[in-house]
Amino acid sequence: MPSVLIVYASRTKETEKIAQLIGEGIRISGMEAFVKDVKEIKTESDLQGYDALVFGSATYHGGMLDKMKTMLFLAEKAGLEGKVGGAFGAFGWSGEAPVRIFDTMKNIFKMNMVGDALMLKSASLGGGISMAQEYGKKIAKKLG
Ligand SMILES: Cc1cc2nc3c(=O)[nH]c(=O)nc-3n(C[C@H](O)[C@H](O)[C@H](O)COP(=O)(O)O)c2cc1C
Repeated sequence: MPSVLIVYASRTKETEKIAQLIGEGIRISGMEAFVKDVKEIKTESDLQGYDALVFGSATYHGGMLDKMKTMLFLAEKAGLEGKVGGAFGAFGWSGEAPVRIFDTMKNIFKMNMVGDALMLKSASLGGGISMAQEYGKKIAKKLG
């Protein structure tokens, strides 16, 4: 069964909730999803062995949280070329983090990215639940 790793960096848990909902969408599609706090990723081997990887961070002061920046340097060495990928994050008004993560996965890691980064103001308001689950389903669909 294909497996997907979802890694989030979150301060007040909105991005964490989005990560869990993306995981639900993947499981609804009949695939395995593992949702991890970025703190759990210690070496590049923690990112290996999955068919797809989805990374997310909340936006603070116009960028991603530092822990996610550090993890992306690990990911650079993890051999993710050609793997299915996606990016997400909660934001308030500008939402740079998910876009920067998406672009790094696409341009540096050469991953096979789903349409766009998922940006939500809230995990639970304004259709956020279904949008996040749908994002998970899109990842699963790309895996076939
Ligand atoms: C000090 C501070 C700075 C923030 N800076 C930004 C920002 O530059 N752009 C933006 O879109 N949202 C910004 N936000 C809003 C957060 O991204 C938003 O609250 C988000 O839901 C937090 O996600 P989290 O719960 O996963 O940490 C900021 C929030 C705080 C408290």
